[in-house]
Amino acid sequence: MPERLSGRVAIVTGGASGIGAAIVKRYAEEGAQILSTDVDVDQGNAVAEAAGAAFIEQDVANEQGWKEVFETARADFGRVDILVNNAGIVIGKSIEDIDLESWYHLLGINLTGVMMGCQNAIAAMKQNPGGPAGSIVNISSTSAFAALPGDVTYTASKSAVRMLTKSVAVHCAQAGYDIRCNNIIPGATHTGIIDKAAQVVPDMVDLAASMSPMNRIGQPSDIAGAAVYLASDDARFVSGSDMLVDGGMLAVHPGY
Ligand SMILES: NC(=O)c1ccc[n+]([C@@H]2O[C@H](COP(=O)([O-])OP(=O)(O)OC[C@H]3O[C@@H](n4cnc5c(N)ncnc54)[C@H](O)[C@@H]3O)[C@@H](O)[C@H]2O)c1
Repeated sequence: MPERLSGRVAIVTGGASGIGAAIVKRYAEEGAQILSTDVDVDQGNAVAEAAGAAFIEQDVANEQGWKEVFETARADFGRVDILVNNAGIVIGKSIEDIDLESWYHLLGINLTGVMMGCQNAIAAMKQNPGGPAGSIVNISSTSAFAALPGDVTYTASKSAVRMLTKSVAVHCAQAGYDIRCNNIIPGATHTGIIDKAAQVVPDMVDLAASMSPMNRIGQPSDIAGAAVYLASDDARFVSGSDMLVDGGMLAVHPGY
């Protein structure tokens, strides 16, 4: 099968583990040149090296860091065609427990980081001298559709990312830029986030599996497949969309 992303340059945030690491691996298999970023330097380097990708340390909440990431990508690869805004955290605090410091910390990463990524990506992609369309892929969550009361900030951040994505998509289309922007909406996926939750809820994996009519939890590679599609020419008329990758979880009528 031909490589679907050959000739493209991708930046993937949070590439050190879980969904981001799976996307780095798949994008490399599909022929993309990749700059992976993360705050976890050791793991980020190891994943990137295994995939033949480049790696740079980045805190997505830091504005200057975004400039450095795009400058590095342009210096090393000449252009940027794909940005996957994947880095994200959970806090696990309800509306009664949340404190302002935790609230702003999570929003800085999960929401403001995504906004800054989109801003820098548009500035870079609209200067591309021809070639593939720009594609921004934001990783939201099923909690953008159904509340997780145990993590009010996470839920707020992911629903905001969902509409931020649509605003970016429409802005780019109306401005005449050849740049698409889409959400992936993962359901529960077996990564470090789930393992962290399992420290509090020991049967977390089984619980998550039972929420899907397919009766299994998602794997990072399930999400990576959607990220390949959205970055590829097959998705050339897809922008502003919510791609559910949740094993049908949100399709189930409550009570069934
Ligand atoms: N796992 C799930 O069930 C699930 C479901 C829906 C959405 N998501 C979303 O998928 C994305 C990836 O999560 P995951 O499940 O792979 O978790 P993960 O913890 O395995 O990976 C997240 C990565 O982000 C990095 N990171 C954290 N803070 C950062 C920062 N400030 N700057 C740069 N990198 C940072 C971490 O070091 C880590 O490598 C997140 O946005 C998450 O909200 C996950």
